Amino acid sequence: METPKEIFLKDYKKPDYYFDAVDLTFSLGEEHTIVSSNITVYPRTEGAAESSPLVLDGVDLKLLSIKIDDKELKEEEDYHLDARNLTISSPPSTARFTLEIVTEIYPQKNTSLEGLYISSGNFVTQCEAEGFRKITYYQDRPDIMAKYTCRVEGNKGLYPVLLSNGNLVEEGDLEGGRHYAVWEDPHKKPCYLFALVAGQLQSRDGDFVTRSGRKVSLRIWTTAEDLPKTVHAMYSLKAAMKWDEDVFGLEYDLDLFNIVAVPDFNMGAMENKSLNIFNSVMVLASPETALDRDYASILGVIGHEYFHNWTGNRVTCRDWFQLSLKEGLTVFRDQEFSSDMGSRSVKRIGDVTILRKYQFPEDAGPMAHPVRPHSYIKMDNFYTSTVYEKGAEVVRMYKTLLGSQGFRRGMDLYFKRHDGQAVTCEDFYAAMRDANDADFANFLQWYSQAGTPTVKVTSFYNSEVKTYSLKFSQEVPPTPGQAMKEPMLIPVAVGLLDSNGKDMPLTSVYHDGMLQAANKDGEPAYTTVLRIKNKEEEFVFSEISEHPVPSLLRGYSAPIRLDSDLTDTDLYFLLAHDSDEFNRWEAGQLLARNLMLSLVADFQQNKPLALNADFVHGFRSILTDGILDKEFIAKAITLPGEGEIMDMMDIADPDAVHAVRSFIRKHLASELKTEFLKTVENNRSSDPYVFDHSNMSRRTLKNISLSYLASLEDPKITELALNEYRTATNMTDQFAALTALVQNPGITRDDVLADFYGKWEHDYLVVDKWFGLQAISDIPGNVENVRKLLMHPAFDLRNPNKVHSLIGGFCASPVNFHAKDGSGYKFLGEIVLQLDKLNPQGASRMVSSFSRWRRYDETRQALAKAQLEMILSTNGLSENVFEIASKSLAG
Ligand code: TRP
Ligand code: ZN
Repeated sequence: METPKEIFLKDYKKPDYYFDAVDLTFSLGEEHTIVSSNITVYPRTEGAAESSPLVLDGVDLKLLSIKIDDKELKEEEDYHLDARNLTISSPPSTARFTLEIVTEIYPQKNTSLEGLYISSGNFVTQCEAEGFRKITYYQDRPDIMAKYTCRVEGNKGLYPVLLSNGNLVEEGDLEGGRHYAVWEDPHKKPCYLFALVAGQLQSRDGDFVTRSGRKVSLRIWTTAEDLPKTVHAMYSLKAAMKWDEDVFGLEYDLDLFNIVAVPDFNMGAMENKSLNIFNSVMVLASPETALDRDYASILGVIGHEYFHNWTGNRVTCRDWFQLSLKEGLTVFRDQEFSSDMGSRSVKRIGDVTILRKYQFPEDAGPMAHPVRPHSYIKMDNFYTSTVYEKGAEVVRMYKTLLGSQGFRRGMDLYFKRHDGQAVTCEDFYAAMRDANDADFANFLQWYSQAGTPTVKVTSFYNSEVKTYSLKFSQEVPPTPGQAMKEPMLIPVAVGLLDSNGKDMPLTSVYHDGMLQAANKDGEPAYTTVLRIKNKEEEFVFSEISEHPVPSLLRGYSAPIRLDSDLTDTDLYFLLAHDSDEFNRWEAGQLLARNLMLSLVADFQQNKPLALNADFVHGFRSILTDGILDKEFIAKAITLPGEGEIMDMMDIADPDAVHAVRSFIRKHLASELKTEFLKTVENNRSSDPYVFDHSNMSRRTLKNISLSYLASLEDPKITELALNEYRTATNMTDQFAALTALVQNPGITRDDVLADFYGKWEHDYLVVDKWFGLQAISDIPGNVENVRKLLMHPAFDLRNPNKVHSLIGGFCASPVNFHAKDGSGYKFLGEIVLQLDKLNPQGASRMVSSFSRWRRYDETRQALAKAQLEMILSTNGLSENVFEIASKSLAG
């Protein structure tokens, strides 16, 4: 392997040459494809005395010819070629010139799923981040923005549909059974947004009339067979288009919007200009085959990609370090969209759960990096939950600090200033600041410091002068390459509850020797946002008539770990009364966390486990509450995940945590059996499936109750679950019953799994769920089942969804992946090497499961480390896997 090159943000330089217009022609073939590109180039500083070399990126390409202004260039004399670049030594520096390049590529052999490849017989592209260089020689960087035309030619029988970005301007037949289509995209774009699709596809057509009265054609393309499953995607697209107009005043800017669903795709979806390409799992849904959560993710991801049209495409990134500029902002936008379409607090709880489950561990491990990374070896490795989810939290903090209207003013200014440009995170920050004349103090640190800040709070009530003080201190932990950290502006939303559980009116706060009004308009506030910007800071509320219980960090106003002096009594009180639903849920989670940690200690000391009566009581009152939203109840009765608890231990002990969580679940099920049974009875329905908040909430609550009950291993409950399985009229209910049943090893488990496969073997997306359910199982020695499933005829290592279900699923079971005999680690080590030869992006995602090996005991550490060393010593390793594996070992 060539030594991988690390790229640094601090080395960013403007390009010496810009591209103006790009004309591409693809001649698609069954063995190879010819790509001709015709580019108008102009130097950045026209008329410079000396010309600088023009460096083009290109990987796995066969160069057929290269010309400047019609003149053929000669190798060595005019240009130099190596494995990564084509360098033209002295192109004309005085004026515009045309660069013509012809390359040959081999899509049929491309298993990496980047560049041009084949999925189910159809041609598909994926160019983000740096895949365009696998199509032709180009300056493959987002600050090169050009207008494109694209002519696609291919066999008409094999590829009747030919799509690219923009508007269709011409089409027709050619000799030899071939045909062509010419597409023209009027908007300038970076090459990562280029797309081409060709093949046998059919479309569901719809339209949307924009608020200014333009009619936009909407087409969702799939195989003929899958077409009936695009109803929900079409609904989601229209809802997203309407929402962006209503909430951000943003209208779609072309007359056609295409979505194509493909089965082989490395990520969820891609926002190519007017030709979004989606992983089929993020488009296709029917009541019989998809879960409520699939419907919800489709809504969110269709929204996400659509919203990129403004946040990503019209305004794009200067360089890849700025990725969160588009991704953090667009995730924030899709979260808001889903909130408005469903329940805001339930959505917030779900998003924070995801942040804690994936981003917190990343930020505390060897791959920790800031929202805007300082360096990378392979950009693909930085499409992380830090860039996406923590990035979205950073955007959300602007909104918390500025209010909805101030945030909107900032967005408007951002588009006004930067439409058509490739910009940086500072540009976004400056727009938010300037539109509001805001003081953001040291807020920019959020972009450059890695690590989850810890904020400690202590409180004091002075009954004589009726003041209540909150003292904060903040600490950002050291992370690889960043030993020292600075304080940063943290917005903490706070309310104070009186003894009846009501919010107290907050009038004024002393801070920094000044008395501030709690609200801008002079009215009392019930929630106020405190700005913590120093290492230590105190806020004193005045006119507080009694000792309050504080509700801190309402709505999770900053992505931090909060360490407060709240007692269990306070937490039960907040759980019962807080007007902030997020904090009601949070109080329950804190109680459960405390309980789990103390039981883990008992378990490790071989003490008998016992469940505290207050906890059961609190749990029962939530479960049986007749007023609370049912989906909220379902969230509130879900215990913190095993990963979350392991993260709080000095040495993560997967066996102890698993034993404790299972113990609590089983005991709650047995103490509250009647309540759970009643919940199942009351929430059944034989009405046709509807995806809306009330039906979804009902199903979620019923199904979580069933899952608690099934942990009892009681034959009557097994009968009940089997009956639910057999009589279910939609996949959500059927799969929930199946999941409940397979918790326990035995004949019923085997039978029902076989039955399910028999029913659904013709539907690849349902088969993926079946793989996933078995892979993630906690039943002892599951690695052997997973090894068998690798050989199953329906399994395919080249398909990322299958890999995600089976391999990713397995790594998500702490007991089996971290089995003390090392069998889980050995399995993953083998798979990573096999997968790396096919799909480096996929392999690198899998190898990440090793990254937190230092969190475990010495035996496990040694076993995991040995696998990482084995991987690193392998010849021909991809840069993707090299980066993750080497950083994991070093960190
Ligand atoms: N920009 C895509 C998104 O919406 C991410 C993406 C899709 C991607 N496919 C990819 C990133 C392949 C890297 C490689 O989030
Ligand atoms: Zn995105």
